[in-house]
Formats: sequence, structure tokens, C-alpha cells
Amino acid sequence: MQWQRLVRLSFACLISSCANESDPQPYRPPQLLDKRAMIGLRIAPVALDLKKADLRAVGLGSYLVNAASGCVDCHGCPTYASGQSPFKGGNGQLSAEHYLGGGAKIGPTLIAPGLTPDARGDPGGLTRTQFFFAIRSGKDPAEPTRVLQAMPWGLYRHMTDEDLDAIYEYLRATPHAEPGTCAGPGE
Ligand code: HEC
Repeated sequence: MQWQRLVRLSFACLISSCANESDPQPYRPPQLLDKRAMIGLRIAPVALDLKKADLRAVGLGSYLVNAASGCVDCHGCPTYASGQSPFKGGNGQLSAEHYLGGGAKIGPTLIAPGLTPDARGDPGGLTRTQFFFAIRSGKDPAEPTRVLQAMPWGLYRHMTDEDLDAIYEYLRATPHAEPGTCAGPGE
């Protein structure tokens, strides 16, 4: 009979809607920037190219580079803006012009390379695979048996893939810089 079919149908609907209610889709909050990414975006000392960037990755990368790892001590020459070395009474403002442009001399022979994008947009001329190789293995991607000297890769190699990806994305968003002149790392 028609009414029996109706009851069966509504019962089926009830069951399926009950099934949905007992197994709801997990609530996904809007993807907000976490604290570290927000600090990272605030403290980056240069104007970043954010057109194609994932803000969360770039922000985290900036945080790791600028608040945690000290890359610019060696990879920026000079490290600080003129007169702003915090060790000499300055406010610690980094040199924007030579930011991560490389050039600091470490010991008699080593020179820290630049880490900003080359003409192809690759940070320090390194692909993501080469960048991971350098940090994880501590070897020179251009000469894979040569151990990188001076660089604290022995510590950095323990970072997660996500953290290294974030650093790579951040470096990709920085403007290209050339080395200036400095007395050594951290100067
Ligand atoms: C104590 C100084 C120092 C610090 C701090 C430092 N580096 Fe380096 N880095 C160097 C030097 C010097 C080299 C070149 C070493 C060599 O050729 O033997 C180098 C090499 C590299 C290379 C390999 C580049 C290439 O083309 O072979 C990468 C990538 C790199 N550094 C990234 C970083 C990042 C990212 C950070 C921060 C997370 C960092 N470095 C912090 C000194 C440093």
C-alpha cells in the first residue's frame, strides 16, 4: 500500500540522517596563522614576495630563520644595518640591503654563500632537493662528498620536513641580495 511505502521511506531517511548525526564531519576551523607565523611575518626585515606564497609556511620559515636559527649571522654581510649591532649599542635591526646575500668570511678560506633567490627563483641557486640534501647531510650539493664546514647543519638536520620546507619557502619569498662588506660573521 502507498502509505506503507511512505513510512518505509521516511524510516530510511530517519536512519540515514541519524547515521550522519552520529558520524559528523570533523569541525575544521578556518586556517589561521599560528603565533610563530605571525611573529615571523612581523620580524622579516625585508619586503617579501607573497604573491604565490603560502603565508603559514613563509611566516613559520621567517620565524625559524630570524628568531631561532641565526642564519643571517653568517649568511648576511653585514648582518646588521649600519650602527645597529645590538652588541655595540644598536637596536639589532638587520641589514635589509644585504639580507642573506652571503659574503661573510669565516676563518681563512670559507665564505658563506648567499641564500636569496637566483634568476630562476631558487634560494642560493638550490632546488628544494639540494637544499634538503645540504641541511640533512651537511654536504655541498655541488660537490656531494665535501662536508660543509662552519655551518651548524649538525643541529639543523634534526628539523622536521615541514620546518625545512617552511625555511625554503621563506627564502624563496625574499628579495635577491648581494654581499656587502663586513669584518666577519655577526658584524
Ligand atoms: C656559523 C655560520 C653559519 C650559520 C649560522 C648558518 N650557515 Fe649556512 N653555511 C655557512 C657556511 C660557511 C657555508 C659554506 C660552507 C662550506 O662551503 O664549507 C654554508 C652553507 C650553507 C648551505 C649550502 C649552500 C651551497 O650552495 O652549498 C645552505 C643551504 C645553508 N648554508 C643554509 C643555511 C640556513 C638555512 C641557515 C639557518 C637555518 C644557515 N645556513 C646558518 C655558515 C653558516
